[in-house]
Amino acid sequence: MATTKTALVASLYILWVTGINCKHDHPVPTYFGRVHPNGTIVDARNPANKLKFSSPPKPTTLEPIASLKVSPSSEIGNGEQVNVSWSGVTFPSDKDIVVLYCPPDAEFDHYLDYVKVSSIETYTKGYGEFDVQLWNLRKECQFRYYRMGNYTTLVTESNVVIFEGGAEIPLQGHLSLTGDPMEMRVMWVSGSMEIPIVQYGTDPSTMSVVQGTNSKTYTAADMCNAPANEENAFIDPGFIHDVLLTNLKPGNLYYYSYGSVKMNESSSPFQHISTCWFSK
Ligand SMILES: *[C@@H]1O[C@H](CO)[C@@H](O)[C@H](O)[C@H]1NC(C)=O
Ligand SMILES: *[C@@H]1O[C@H](CO)[C@@H](O)[C@H](O)[C@H]1NC(C)=O
Ligand SMILES: *[C@@H]1O[C@H](CO)[C@@H](O)[C@H](O)[C@H]1NC(C)=O
Ligand SMILES: *[C@@H]1O[C@H](CO)[C@@H](O)[C@H](O)[C@H]1NC(C)=O
Repeated sequence: MATTKTALVASLYILWVTGINCKHDHPVPTYFGRVHPNGTIVDARNPANKLKFSSPPKPTTLEPIASLKVSPSSEIGNGEQVNVSWSGVTFPSDKDIVVLYCPPDAEFDHYLDYVKVSSIETYTKGYGEFDVQLWNLRKECQFRYYRMGNYTTLVTESNVVIFEGGAEIPLQGHLSLTGDPMEMRVMWVSGSMEIPIVQYGTDPSTMSVVQGTNSKTYTAADMCNAPANEENAFIDPGFIHDVLLTNLKPGNLYYYSYGSVKMNESSSPFQHISTCWFSK
């Protein structure tokens, strides 16, 4: 009996330990979704993959003509690919990196991701380029070219990247069923506390409007574990909007669009995010 109990406790303990460990077993992809040369995902949480700055970086006087450019850099769509290129680097080093910051004035250790210039063949000649996808985190972005030598120096900075719709554009929109066939929940995020609205109807020319009252956000202090609650890793989620549509008629095709009252007045980004679903 005692043995069974011990075995049970032991197996529960193993379950508990592995259960806890499970949370840490999968790699967290970096912002650029980088992979190692052997094809495995670079784990953003692994300290070996984090940049070690000697602080604070100072501008280098060795590279007066170095330049870094992002294109395109205005009206970037969420997830759009941009071309990052540099040139005029006189003393290229395999310790050189190109680092992404959003916003542009972020502290040097509050970076989102980086690319080692030595991963691009032409770097020894002082120039190179790579393509990356950029996601609208409700901030403008900028790349910096750093040299991670005995101490960190700033070689050059890029132009600033501005996203289409800025911080206020509604992103990550999705529909959720509620269990009631006459209801549909519309959820999205934006950087705006403006009153959220959904326009919907069976005829796109005469849409009903419903206002949300349930926008929420959270802070690093609301999260339990690293990296989510680390100051350097936490990303402000903006506001999560949630609007419930009721009294829908089953069997109809519904059109809808979502955004804020303010965006509706200034028309564009609100208007084009519009699609439809069949109510069951
Ligand atoms: C792939 O490479 C990374 C970095 O060198 C290394 O940490 C990892 O263990 C390697 N994984 C496999 C499956 O070889
Ligand atoms: C990336 O930008 C550089 C500099 O503007 C340009 O020379 C290069 O052709 C671009 N590459 C691509 C793939 O568009
Ligand atoms: C970096 O430090 C090492 C060891 O102290 C030294 O040999 C080397 O010359 C230094 N490099 C530069 C670029 O200052
Ligand atoms: C949104 O804009 C349309 C067209 O200008 C207008 O008819 C509608 O009343 C507006 N809705 C809200 C909630 O302001």
